[in-house]
Amino acid sequence: MAKLFNGGIIATGSYVPEKVITNHDLARIVDTSDEWIVTRTGIRERRIADPHIATSDLATIAARRTLESAHLTPQDIDMIIVATVTPDMHFPSTACLVQRNIGATNASAFDLEAACSGFLYGIIVANQFVATGFCKNVMVIGAECMSKFVNWKDRNTCILFGDGAGAVIVSRVDEGYGFLSQVLGADGSGAELLMLEAGGSRKPPTFETVEKELHYIHMDGSEVFKFAVQTMAAMAEEAVQRAGLTKEQVDFLIPHQANIRIIEAARKKLELPEDKVYINLDRYGNMSAASIPVALDEAVKQGRIKKGHNIVMVGFGAGLTWGACTIRWAV
Ligand code: ACO
Repeated sequence: MAKLFNGGIIATGSYVPEKVITNHDLARIVDTSDEWIVTRTGIRERRIADPHIATSDLATIAARRTLESAHLTPQDIDMIIVATVTPDMHFPSTACLVQRNIGATNASAFDLEAACSGFLYGIIVANQFVATGFCKNVMVIGAECMSKFVNWKDRNTCILFGDGAGAVIVSRVDEGYGFLSQVLGADGSGAELLMLEAGGSRKPPTFETVEKELHYIHMDGSEVFKFAVQTMAAMAEEAVQRAGLTKEQVDFLIPHQANIRIIEAARKKLELPEDKVYINLDRYGNMSAASIPVALDEAVKQGRIKKGHNIVMVGFGAGLTWGACTIRWAV
């Protein structure tokens, strides 16, 4: 089907749990220090959901806030995509749980799994449905409870992650606004670098998988780091080029929030001053698929993103996966 409509983001919303875990708190449970974490990652604290809270709970609050800012009713939404690697359960999808919670009775709903690139995959998929006219209003939510899958005895990973949810509505926007470019990619040869091995059909849960701690996130940090530095910089540049823009025309960069040193590489490649890059990983750590939409919502609410601004978003994640896009802000 050909493109009939321009797709763009018309509203944002987000939610993070109230409970804060600082680096100092972590230094009491694993062999680490605030100084090590801050200098190697840029992270100072992260939000952690209460034990009884699951990903759909965070996603539902972010969804309601987004509907409010869009002045739309739940019935106006015709598709819900939840990007997550920490669903409430294998099935039904977290998207169906959100659909029920908010009463979006006209919406189809499915989850999308591309790890930290999931939100970018989600909005680019949403844009195809909007562009062809199949959908009018697609809600895309990036939501994660990373804390439930982190091994709190493993200092290599537990310092990095946090919980949260961010959402947007992708809808029809005026000519000249909305998505100017889209980049998606994957390299499954790096699948083992970052994984949660057991609990699926390859290794269903057994006493042995639990004993071997295979239900937690495992990561080769330095290999992921090398991939991320190269990919974030290259894909941000690719998104600008495909949009037909020069680097000077980029008004704001929203990068995935994994490590300040990875973000710096992308910023330098785009030759952007520091004040044109949104950073909140110091407060939230890496919220996987939720990082970019939470950052986007905060930047919008702070008035740092205005109508006509050219916004570049870029991310990478397990898979390995990556995504980037340029959007001319429409509202
Ligand atoms: N506190 C103190 N020391 C630590 C800690 C810690 N929390 N964690 C690791 N170390 C130690 C290591 O054991 C190692 O010690 P050794 O040399 O005696 O073995 C030393 O610090 C250096 O480790 P490196 O791995 O070389 O440290 P590096 O500078 O690479 O930083 C980090 C590690 C922060 C994990 C970095 O590699 C990174 O950010 N990688 C990318 C991770 C990432 O982005 N993951 C998310 C992907 S998104 C998704 O899809 C979920």
